[in-house]
Amino acid sequence: MRITSRYFVAPTVGLLALALVACSSPAPAGTEKEAPVEKTTLRLALNQTEEHPSFIALDAFGERLLEATDGRWDIEVFPNETLGAQAETLQLVGDGVVDMAIVSGAQLENLSKDFIAFNLPTVFDSVEHQISVVNNPEVTADLYSSLADGNNISVVGGFTQGARSIYTKNAPAESPADLAGQKIRVQESELFLSLVKSLGASPTPMAFGEVYTALQSGVIDGAENNEVSYFTQKHHEVAPYFSYTKHLIGLDYLIINSGKLDGLTEEDRAAFDEAWTATYEQHTELWTEATEKAISDAEAAGATFTEVDSDAFADALEPLVDQFLTEPSQKKLYDAARDASKK
Ligand code: GCU
Repeated sequence: MRITSRYFVAPTVGLLALALVACSSPAPAGTEKEAPVEKTTLRLALNQTEEHPSFIALDAFGERLLEATDGRWDIEVFPNETLGAQAETLQLVGDGVVDMAIVSGAQLENLSKDFIAFNLPTVFDSVEHQISVVNNPEVTADLYSSLADGNNISVVGGFTQGARSIYTKNAPAESPADLAGQKIRVQESELFLSLVKSLGASPTPMAFGEVYTALQSGVIDGAENNEVSYFTQKHHEVAPYFSYTKHLIGLDYLIINSGKLDGLTEEDRAAFDEAWTATYEQHTELWTEATEKAISDAEAAGATFTEVDSDAFADALEPLVDQFLTEPSQKKLYDAARDASKK
C-alpha cells in the first residue's frame, strides 16, 4: 500500500513522542569490569523508499558510525516520509524532535537564499562535478554552518539527485511549447516555480509523497524528477512520458540538529565525518546503476523516455541565473562551483 504524507501527519506526532522516549539505550555489556557503553541512536528522516540509493547508503552510514565509535553512535533511517514530508522534517530537525534528515536544496533555499547558487540550472556539469563541489569544505564550510544560529541546523554534505527531467501523463514534451498550460508539480521553492513558468507551464507546489495521487487524479498533468525517484515512487504508472529535459542536476543535503552535532566528542566527530565521506562516495557509485535500472524497469512497465530539443529548453531557462543570483555571497558560491568545473 502506498503511504502519503497526508495520511501520516496525525500519527507522526504520536510516533515521535514514542520514539523520543527510547533515544538512548545501553549497548550490550562487555566483561563485568567494563562500564556499559551508552548508545545514542540518531533518527534520520527520508522521503524515499528502501530501494533508493539514499536509503541504502544512509543505512550503511549507521553501520559505519556504530563500528567507528565502538557502539556509541548509531543512525536509524525512517524512509517513506514516515517522520513527515521534507518541509516538516526541516522544522523538526531545527526543533531537535528529529535528529537528521535528507532535504532537497529547494527546501534550504527557503531558509537562506545562498543555497540558490547550487540549485540553478548550469551550475553543475555532471554528478561528479557536483559532488566534488558540495562535499568540499573549502567551498561549503560557511554555507553549511550558516543555518546554525537562526535555525539550529547544520549541513553535513550533499547527495546527488542526478539530472531532473519532466514527465507527463498524456504525451512527451519535446520542446517547451508542448508544456503550454500544463500543470506541473514542483518542490516548494521560488526557483522551481519560476523554472516551470519559464517553460510556459503552470507550476503546482506540493510535497513529494503527494505527487502519485495528484497525477492519478489529474490534479496535475506532470512533474519533474530523476529517473530513480520516477520509478521508485511508481510515478511511471500514472505519467508514462518521461522527456529528457535535464533542466538541472538536483542536490539533496544531509542536515543535522546543530546541538546534536556539537554533542559529539572530537574523536566521535572525526569518525562521523569519515563515515559520511564513505557514505556519499557509496551513494554516487550506486547512482549510475540505479538510474540504468530505473530506466529499464520503467520501460518494461510501459514508460517511454524521449530526447528533447535541449537548446530550446536551455534558452527558455537562461534568464533564471541572472534573475536569482542577486547577492555577492550567492555569486561567490556559484563562481566557486564553475571554477571547479574548469579544473
Ligand atoms: C528527489 C530528491 C528528494 C526530493 C524530491 C522532490 O527525489 O531526492 O529529496 O524531495 O526529488 O521532488 O520532492
